[in-house]
Amino acid sequence: MLSNRALSSSDSVTMRLNEKALQLTEEGRVIYNLSAGQLPIKPTSEFTEKIQHQINFLKSYQYPPSAGFKELRQKFLKTHAHNRRVDKIESMDCIISNGSKHSLYNVFGSIINPDDEVIILAPFWVSYPEMIKFWGGTTKVVRSNVFDAFTPAIDDIRKAVSQKTKAIIINSPNNPAGIHYSESWMKEFALLMTEFPQLLVISDEVYSDLHYFDPKPTYFYQYDPELLERTIIVHSISKSLASTGLRIGFTIAQKEIVEAMQRIQSQTTSGANSLIQRALIDFNFSSIDHFLAPVRNHIRLNAMFIQEMFRKSKLAHCWYQSTSGFYYMIDFSRTPMFEKYDREKDWSDEIAAQLLEVGVLVVPGKDFGMPNSFRISLVLEEIPFQEALTKLLKFLTAQ
Ligand SMILES: Cc1ncc(COP(=O)(O)O)c(C=O)c1O
Repeated sequence: MLSNRALSSSDSVTMRLNEKALQLTEEGRVIYNLSAGQLPIKPTSEFTEKIQHQINFLKSYQYPPSAGFKELRQKFLKTHAHNRRVDKIESMDCIISNGSKHSLYNVFGSIINPDDEVIILAPFWVSYPEMIKFWGGTTKVVRSNVFDAFTPAIDDIRKAVSQKTKAIIINSPNNPAGIHYSESWMKEFALLMTEFPQLLVISDEVYSDLHYFDPKPTYFYQYDPELLERTIIVHSISKSLASTGLRIGFTIAQKEIVEAMQRIQSQTTSGANSLIQRALIDFNFSSIDHFLAPVRNHIRLNAMFIQEMFRKSKLAHCWYQSTSGFYYMIDFSRTPMFEKYDREKDWSDEIAAQLLEVGVLVVPGKDFGMPNSFRISLVLEEIPFQEALTKLLKFLTAQ
């Protein structure tokens, strides 16, 4: 009955584990949820007040243009040009979608022909390969590891480019590694891209406001604005404004790509949530920094606690300096717990299931392209986070 395309799409592992965690909670168990990909707080009142204000206007409930309201598209362009200090961005085009997941889906739909290859850097966000596959493309993975703080070598990226390569995705700050690539890495990457003038670069910047250790994230196109001719920037309000449920993402790219995305969008979802778009037109984006200041402090404290706990538990080799985003990747392949396992195989699903039995919900690394590891989220409040980490380390150090 089902199409091959539907049959070959994978279900989200995170969702599955979350359901299991919910079931255990309902049975009365205490489960520390370290899987969250969102802030457990309300957006700034400066934003919610704008939404409340829009509730009174008829036009806030009617279809928006399929690419989004002109004023908001312009505002995103202007704000991004200002934040990245690159004037050229303002003369590009912008389309608003139902969250940046939807933006990325339409980006792939606009650029991928059957068998086109897209390079992704591991660890990578789980949805990239699924979306690329959905549009008939294939992925080539460039690897990294904990010892280089999950930053792939530029030379490995060079080697991965083939005749079939259509695009490469840069996700900095990175989900799941919780790092952003350094300034020198971005400069080298910009230089590398000049060797391959046919390649498109997708820059997924959804975590760019969530840095908690200096220096802040920078982007390759800041060092060579000419690259913007073939750069597709994807961003959203989900993480920066604690608004994952409001579903607003946007893409900044050249007109031709934005128009193709608009055609796909107009025949599928139509324009994104009109009420939130209108509220955003009135919203002062510069207030995001102030709103996120305590969030950054909180995540930094949890990240520092990991370092201290790894040191105390003699697991220092599992530690790397996370700097941004919500997450931390734990490579368990060299922990005492893992000594009895066959290292040639991936056990991340199995280990995540065992951790859930002891009351900690994590996300297995396999689907992020990082076998024998798992992702934890740093957004939990300080005390439960510390309790969860203590349980985690007890598990990892048990022989
Ligand atoms: C790297 C990355 N990109 C894009 C998204 C999509 O976010 P949204 O659709 O909420 O904007 C996520 C969500 O977790 C993500 O981690």
